[in-house]
Amino acid sequence: MNKSKTIAAIDVGTTKVFSLIAEVFNDESQPKTPRIIATSIAPCNGLKRGNVEDIKLTSAAIKQTLQDLESRTDKKITSAYVGITGSHVSYENKRSPLKDVGSYGVITPDELKTNTTTAKSDNGRILLHAMPISYTLDGADGIRNPIGMHSDAVSVDTHVITADREFLDKLTEACKGAGINVDAFVMEPFASALSTLTEQEREQGSIIIDIGGGTTDIIAFKDDRVIYTAVVPVGGFQFTNDIAYTYDSTYESAEKAKMDHGHTELTAIEISENISLNSNEECQIIEVPAREIGRLLRERSIELAQMVQLKLEDLRIDNSSSMRVVVTGGGSKLPGISHLFQRYLGRRVRLGKPSITWHNESEKLTDPSQSTALGILIWAYSNLQDRPEINDKNKYADKDGRFLQKLLSNKTFRLSPWIRPTAQQINNQN
Ligand SMILES: Nc1ncnc2c1ncn2[C@@H]1O[C@H](COP(=O)(O)OP(=O)(O)OP(=O)(O)O)[C@@H](O)[C@H]1O
Ligand SMILES: [Mg+2]
Repeated sequence: MNKSKTIAAIDVGTTKVFSLIAEVFNDESQPKTPRIIATSIAPCNGLKRGNVEDIKLTSAAIKQTLQDLESRTDKKITSAYVGITGSHVSYENKRSPLKDVGSYGVITPDELKTNTTTAKSDNGRILLHAMPISYTLDGADGIRNPIGMHSDAVSVDTHVITADREFLDKLTEACKGAGINVDAFVMEPFASALSTLTEQEREQGSIIIDIGGGTTDIIAFKDDRVIYTAVVPVGGFQFTNDIAYTYDSTYESAEKAKMDHGHTELTAIEISENISLNSNEECQIIEVPAREIGRLLRERSIELAQMVQLKLEDLRIDNSSSMRVVVTGGGSKLPGISHLFQRYLGRRVRLGKPSITWHNESEKLTDPSQSTALGILIWAYSNLQDRPEINDKNKYADKDGRFLQKLLSNKTFRLSPWIRPTAQQINNQN
């Protein structure tokens, strides 16, 4: 009997596709947590600002990683959990009355479970996640867990994240072109939060800022619930492009200069240091003071911090200014940027590295650009844990044939039911 399942997670980013495959054992004698057996990365030029623009190029990059994983593991990948972001993703916090709740005298988990699917896909928008924030019982709001309570009138505040059908279809097509079906889409900054935030940070209130290649994604947690999401259409691409445009250099040499010598604090750069850039004019080399490059990166970082700050002004909750910021994504590796964000956002800021121990010691997955893929894996794994009856599609399928998210069934993690476990909680399981 086959005692293991495999899960594939794919982060389709603006600069790269990062895929991984993990094995989950059903056998009691094996570790309960997944074991990542291989990862693969391929450059991707099919996306712009997080949106799939070229399906073929995106498909080719996904396929390249899948073929690599398959050849190294001898496993066949037929489906995967896939990350999604982009300017087309939007959210709203919705209050809706719940029908037929409390019919057994008190509110039961099953009644809440069926009611969480009231948010529907419509008007060209597809529902990605519907996450309850809190409940209102007979006019009293802010109740996190109403199970076991009595009430005649219950309503739920839900954080609803939707995506544009057209963009989602393109990503689905790119996956199909690579030979796989999509198990589920996972909002990328949400995934990054799962792999980098601690339980306390989610509980006390934290903001993830995932600085990618094409977008900077924001997601805020409070009381272990998602309360806010936003996408800023600026990422590492613009940082590099500023250098390439200013000196008329190739994009590649500007990227190398940023990676090798970039810093947002000018005093950290030697005044005499020069950087060589390849000009767009054939065979010409341009010598540029490293501090000038630093100045460009600093200006772009300040502008990005200001754009993030503008978004965060929409975060209208008590004490929001005390919420800690965790920066992650490849762009967060620019030396000095965490410090700069701390100053411009007026909040405590730390660098968010994924902290998952599901891999061989030889391959540490702690790079901020890997946060999303590892978070997608956490989501996928906790979905499996929630639904041991995953093969019994009829039991938990709604009208549209999708699975209902099974609530309050997960005794191992003792989590708020709608949010997935943190990396630390899962690490501690073994
Ligand atoms: N050391 C570094 N210093 C500065 N920038 C860096 C560094 N390392 C990576 N980056 C930048 O990080 C970006 C890529 O980050 P990441 O891999 O998180 O993006 P992505 O997932 O492909 O894109 P997106 O999430 O926007 O779709 C690139 O723009 C790259 O230049
Ligand atoms: Mg990304």
